[in-house]
Amino acid sequence: MGKINRLPPDLANQIAAGEVVERPASVVKELVENAIDAGARRLTIHVELGGKKQVRVEDNGEGMAPDDARLAIERHATSKIRRAEDLAAILTLGFRGEALPSIASVSHFVLRTRARGHQSGTEIRVNGGAIAAVVEVGAAEGTVIEVSDLFYNLPARRKFLKADGAESAQVSRIVTQLALAYPEVGFTLTSAARTVLQCPPAVTLRDRLYQLYGERSDLLELRKDAGGLKLTGFVAALAGQGPTRGPQNVFINRRIVKDRTIAHAIIDSYSQASIKERSPEVHLFIEMPPDALDVNVHPTKAEVRFREQSMVHEVVRRAFMETLGRSGAPQLQLRPEHAAAPQPHTAALPGVLAGGTYPNRWMPVDSQPQQGVPRPHQSAPLKGGPTDVGHPASTNVGPSASTDVGPSASTDVGPSASTDVGSSASTDVGHPSSTDVGHRFSGAAPAEIKPMIPLGQFRDTFIIAVDEEGIAIVDQHVAHERVLFERVMERLTTGALESQRLLIPMVLDFAPAAHQALLNRAAELERLGFELEAFGAATIKITAVPALLKSEDSTRALLALAQDLEGLDRGAQVQDALQRIAATTACHAAVKANDPLTYEKMTHILEELRATSYSTVCPHGRPVMLRLTRREIEKNFDRI
Ligand SMILES: Nc1ncnc2c1ncn2[C@@H]1O[C@H](COP(=O)(O)OP(=O)(O)OP(=O)(O)O)[C@@H](O)[C@H]1O
Ligand SMILES: [Mg+2]
Repeated sequence: MGKINRLPPDLANQIAAGEVVERPASVVKELVENAIDAGARRLTIHVELGGKKQVRVEDNGEGMAPDDARLAIERHATSKIRRAEDLAAILTLGFRGEALPSIASVSHFVLRTRARGHQSGTEIRVNGGAIAAVVEVGAAEGTVIEVSDLFYNLPARRKFLKADGAESAQVSRIVTQLALAYPEVGFTLTSAARTVLQCPPAVTLRDRLYQLYGERSDLLELRKDAGGLKLTGFVAALAGQGPTRGPQNVFINRRIVKDRTIAHAIIDSYSQASIKERSPEVHLFIEMPPDALDVNVHPTKAEVRFREQSMVHEVVRRAFMETLGRSGAPQLQLRPEHAAAPQPHTAALPGVLAGGTYPNRWMPVDSQPQQGVPRPHQSAPLKGGPTDVGHPASTNVGPSASTDVGPSASTDVGPSASTDVGSSASTDVGHPSSTDVGHRFSGAAPAEIKPMIPLGQFRDTFIIAVDEEGIAIVDQHVAHERVLFERVMERLTTGALESQRLLIPMVLDFAPAAHQALLNRAAELERLGFELEAFGAATIKITAVPALLKSEDSTRALLALAQDLEGLDRGAQVQDALQRIAATTACHAAVKANDPLTYEKMTHILEELRATSYSTVCPHGRPVMLRLTRREIEKNFDRI
C-alpha cells in the first residue's frame, strides 16, 4: 500500500479554511461579499462576542434555488466563473467557490435562502463540514447565513482569536470598508444589543462618507482619469490639523486591497511636501479594466497584481500631488456658522504676484513698493468696498505659471517608481513629459492661483496680503522655510549645495549619540554644504556650512541637526536623511518671527511661495497661511 492518501473532503476544507478564514471579520467579509455579488441592496450583519459566538448576515439578494443551495457549500462550486478565460475578467468579488465550504467546515453553519420568485426556501445545517439537515422552509427572499462557534473544532485556531472587543473592532472595520465601497447598499451592523453602524442606501460616496464619518470638510476630494485608471476618493489635506494617523482604505474595482505599490505612491506624495511622519487618512477608489490586474494571488484576495505596476504607481502619485496642491490654506471664520456649512477647500490656493512689484490700490501711490516697508497703519485708507479689490496683476498669471517651476527635485521615488511610465500610458497620464517623475505636480490648476499683494507685517511676524479672493495671513518664517526647503531639495538633484568655508572652524561639543548621528550622516551633510570631522570623542570640527546659512545661525542649526538625525533610524534611506537635513537647514536659514521685513523681501517670499508645489504647509507640517475669504468678509458685512 502506498504512502499517499487522498484527504477526506472535510479535512481538505478545514485546511482551505485555514487560509480563507482567519477570524470572525474574515467570515463577515466573505458573507457580505457573497451578498453583494447576489445583488443585495440591504444587508444586516449581527455579531455576538465579537463574532466568536455568532456571525449572522442577512441579505435581500437573489437567493438560491434548492439545488444551488446544496452546491454552494461544496468546494469549488461557484456561479461566478465557468472557464479559465473568465479569470481574466472578474467582475464579482468571489470566484473561487471556497468561502462557504471553508467556513462551514470550522463552525456550526446554517444557510437559509429563497430564490426570487420561488414559493419556499431551503435550510441547510452543517456542523464542522458534515451536513446535518436539508429542509424546505418558509423564508424571505434572499439569504441568511449564521455561523456559530467559529473554530469550535480547531482549538489551536480558536486560541489565536483576540478578546471580544478586538474582534468586534475588526468586524466594524471591515464592514465600514465594505460600506464605503458600496454606497448604494444599505448596511446595518449590530453587536449584541448595540447598533454599531447604520447606513441606509446612499447615492454618492460623499453621502456614504458622511454616514460613516460625519461631516468631513477637512478631507480633499481626489479625482483623476489617466492611463486607463479612474481614481476617486477623499484624502487628508496637508495642512490638516488632525491626527497624523487615519484609516487608509484603498479599493480596486470596489475590492478592498492592501497594496504596497499604492501605499508607497501615497506616502511618497505626502512626504514630498512634509517630512512629518504620517499615515494620512485616505479613502481611495481605483477603477481599471479587470484584465489589467490579477486578483487571484492571495488567499483572502487582499492583494492584487498589476499588469503595469509602475504606471499605477505614477498615476496614483500624480493624483495625490495634484489634490494636495489644491488643498488651499485653512480658512478663518469671523463668526460661527449656523446654517449651511461652508466649503473650506473650494477657494483657490492663494498665490502671489507673478514677478516684479505691482501697484497696490490699498496704498497711497507715493508709498508704492519701492518706498520700503509699508507698515500696517500706512495701508489705510480703505477706499471702496471689499468687492473692490480687483487689481491689474491678475492677468499676468498664465496657465503655465506653476507648471514649469524648474527641475524635479526627486529622482528617487522608491522601488517601484516609474521611469518607464509605459508607452501605453504616456499619452494619457495628462502630462507632456511622462518620464518626469519629479515631485512637481502637473495639474494644480494654476489658473486658479491668483496674484497676491503684501500690505505689510503684523507684529513683524506675519505678512498680511490680499488678492481678489480674500486676505491671507502668512507666517513669514514658515513660508520662507517652505520656500528654502523647496529650493534646497531642487538644487540637490543637480549636485551639492553651495558651501561657505569658515575662516575659523567651529568646534562644538555633542552628547555621544548626537556626535555619532552627525558623523554617520557626514556624506549627506556634505551634499548640503556642511563639512565636518571628528575632533575627539565628543567634539566635532566644522570647517564649512551651507552658503544660505548665516554664520550666527550655523551653531543652532547643527545642534538641531544632531538632534534630528539622532531620531532618524540608522537604516533610514539617504533620501530621508537629506530631506531632514534640508528641512532643518531651511528652518534655520529662514527669516524669523519678529524680523522686520522690507516690502521687497515680503514680495519675494510670497512670489517664491507661489512657485512652490505646496505652499500651504512647511516641511514640518505647520500651516503657511490662514485665509479669510472674500465670501466670509462679505457675509459678515451683510453684503451677500
Ligand atoms: N448570499 C448569497 N446569495 C445568493 N447566492 C449566494 C450567496 N452566498 C453564496 N451564494 C452562491 O454560492 C456560491 C458559493 O459561494 P462561495 O462564497 O463559497 O464562493 P464564491 O463566492 O463563488 O467564491 P469565493 O470563494 O471566491 O468567495 C456562490 O458562487 C453563489 O452562487
Ligand atoms: Mg464568496
